[in-house]
Formats: sequence, C-alpha cells, structure tokens
Amino acid sequence: MSVAAKSGARAGFDPRAVKRDFPIFTNNPGVVFLDSAASAQKPASVIDRVSDFYRHDYANVHRGVYRLSVKSSELYENARDRAAKFLNAADPSEIIFVRGATEGINLVVYSWGAANLKAGDEVLITELEHHANIVPWQILRDRIGFTLKVAPIDATGGIDMAVLESLIGPKTKMVAVTQLANATGALVPVEAIIRLAHAKGALALIDGCQAAPRMMVDVQALDCDFYVFSGHKMYGPTGIGVLYGKRALLQEMPPWQGGGDMILNVTFEKTTFQEPPARFEAGTPDISGAIGLATALDYIDALGRDAIAAHEAELTEYGIGVLSRMPGVKLVPAGQRRFGILSFGVDGVHPHDLATILDQHSVAVRAGHHCAQPLMDKLNLAATTRASFGVYNDERDIDSLAAAIKAAQVMFAD
Ligand code: ALA
Repeated sequence: MSVAAKSGARAGFDPRAVKRDFPIFTNNPGVVFLDSAASAQKPASVIDRVSDFYRHDYANVHRGVYRLSVKSSELYENARDRAAKFLNAADPSEIIFVRGATEGINLVVYSWGAANLKAGDEVLITELEHHANIVPWQILRDRIGFTLKVAPIDATGGIDMAVLESLIGPKTKMVAVTQLANATGALVPVEAIIRLAHAKGALALIDGCQAAPRMMVDVQALDCDFYVFSGHKMYGPTGIGVLYGKRALLQEMPPWQGGGDMILNVTFEKTTFQEPPARFEAGTPDISGAIGLATALDYIDALGRDAIAAHEAELTEYGIGVLSRMPGVKLVPAGQRRFGILSFGVDGVHPHDLATILDQHSVAVRAGHHCAQPLMDKLNLAATTRASFGVYNDERDIDSLAAAIKAAQVMFAD
C-alpha cells in the first residue's frame, strides 16, 4: 500500500505524495511526465510484485501438479478475479487476458467477427478511433465483404450523435467505439451509443484504453458486450491487457489462436476446446504481467477511482485555462468534454519540433498523429502535440509545460 493512497487530500489524494510511489521520478529528477496516454509509469508496488513473483512463486500455470505451479496458477486466476471486480464483470470467466487493447479488439474481430459477419452486414466505428479499432475491422472486411461505416465528428470535435444514430440500422451487427479519444481527449457518451446499438440488435465494443485508467468503469451498468483496456496504461506492466466479454457471447465464439492450454482434447483428426476464458488464451500467458496488473488495479482502487477522475478533471480544466490563454496556442476540438488529454498546436512550430524543445526543458509529451491518422485528416492536421495526465501530475507540471512552450515560441520567433 502506498503512502499516497493513505493520505487524504483535496481530490482524495495528494499527487506530490503519489509521485513518490513511482521510482521513475526519483531516478529522473525534474522530469515532467505528460505522456501517460501513451503509457503510464509504474508504482513501486507493481515493480516489486512482478519481481517478488519471479523470486518466490514463478512456474508455468495450469500445467503442473507440483506446488509452485499450483501457487502460480492460483495467483494468475486471482489476477483474473481482480480484473473482473475492477470492471464489475458478472463472472471472472468473462475476463480474457490479452497483450493489450489492440489484441483484445483483434480477438473480437477474428473470433466473433469472422464467425458472425457476412457480406451485407455493417460494422460502425467512429472518426475518433485509434488505428487499433479501425485496421482489424478493415482487414476482416476485405476478406468477408461487410461494410465498415464511420460515424463522423461534428464541428465541436465530439461524435455527431444524430448522424451516429442514423447510421445504426437493421444491418448493423457491431458498434465499436472509443470511450475517450486518445488523440484529442474527447469523452464519448458510450452509454447512449450502447443503448442505440442494442435497440437495433447490434453489439457494442468499447475501447476503454484511455478511460479505464481515469474513471470508474462498470461493464454491467454500461451493458457493453465487449470492453478492452491495456495494462500498461493502468500503471501496470506492458504486454498484458484485458478483454471483457459477456459470458453468453464468449461461449459461442470460436478460438482465434490454437495451442496449449486452450484445448480439451487433441487428435490429428479433431480438437475440442476449453470453455472461456481458457479457449482464448493459447500458449503460456503473460503470468507475471497479469499478477502485476492486479497490483496496479489495487493501486488505482487504493487511490480511489472517483478521486482519480476528479484529479484528472481538475488538471484538464487547469490545462485548458493555461493553454487557451497563451497566444498562438490552439487546442484541438474535443467535443463537449475534454478529459485527461490535451491535444494542441502552436502557431509556427511543428509539433515534432515543439516536442523536442519541450524535452530539452524536461517536459515529456507525444507529438504526431497518435495512431489516429483518419481523425487527423478530418481535422486537417498532420500532427498535434499531446499532453496527457496521470495520478502523479499536478498543476506545476502544466505550468512547466506552458513555460517550455513559451521558450519554444521565443526560439521560433527569432
Ligand atoms: N495508444 C497510445 C497513445 O495514444 C500509444 O499514445
């Protein structure tokens, strides 16, 4: 348990104390880390848990009768229970461990999609999507011949809900949408979108990559059919993520990868498969990743998800205020509500140059298309600079960002 999580503060915790939970900041003094949307830093509890697991309890899972393997299997399945509780899934078997959100979406596309979609069907995504929620659908569309429709954003940068509704019809089989756009920070009203999808008999997949680290997620309350997130954005290890799927759907879905642990019986003629979740976890899984992720989820819950959401909202408001008062700085449109992520441009300074200069001032941000090229095209932007927040950021980090932007503006004015 962190010191930070125990101490109360304005937003429920003190980000300065939280920062001390993260060794990266002790080892890189002065770094202003504003790139948690790309990947979050790791608290000592997560780093230590992974290390302790390898030191004390490591063995392969589900394969040995010896005690180490039994213990390791228990810890791995406990991590599944932990992820189920985190999302309020009805049952741990609804949690599939994957490499990350990208793999989670690919699993749905190649298992559910390949088994259920046919020419004439429609899948609806939105202009806010990350490539991970565009490209897998395109690859399968090119094989099967279904139609991939795209709900547009409006002038504010949010989803045009009237158009989205009009695009969901009797042929729509899936609506796959981000909960929080990684490139702009636009918060998407997924509850309403899920309802619209279900009203027309379509399923709904939510890409929770950016939302899950920043706010409470309850998959039963949302009533989504699939939900994905990446562990490394949740203060957990890289290489692990979660696909939540409703049990009845997972049970009907065929395996997407074959190998060890996902079978009941194999002969050269025929193989029968395990029930979910094992059916979808071929090969030795990322055992330490799952165990580290469980510790990261403990860390998040110890801070409090409402407190984290309040903290991210405060930082976002503060950042909007600071950046919008700066001459020559323009925030990218992000709909009715911008949350945890500020994407912006600075007149006369290319985002990559800006990010390089910011780094010279120890401010770490991401610049580029943020794996959302179609959205950048729609916004008529080649790239943006993006500052994104985590539990360890505070308002001073935004002040440092502003000071570094000013320095870049001075440099480019010469
Ligand atoms: N999807 C991650 C980002 O937005 C990598 O930066």
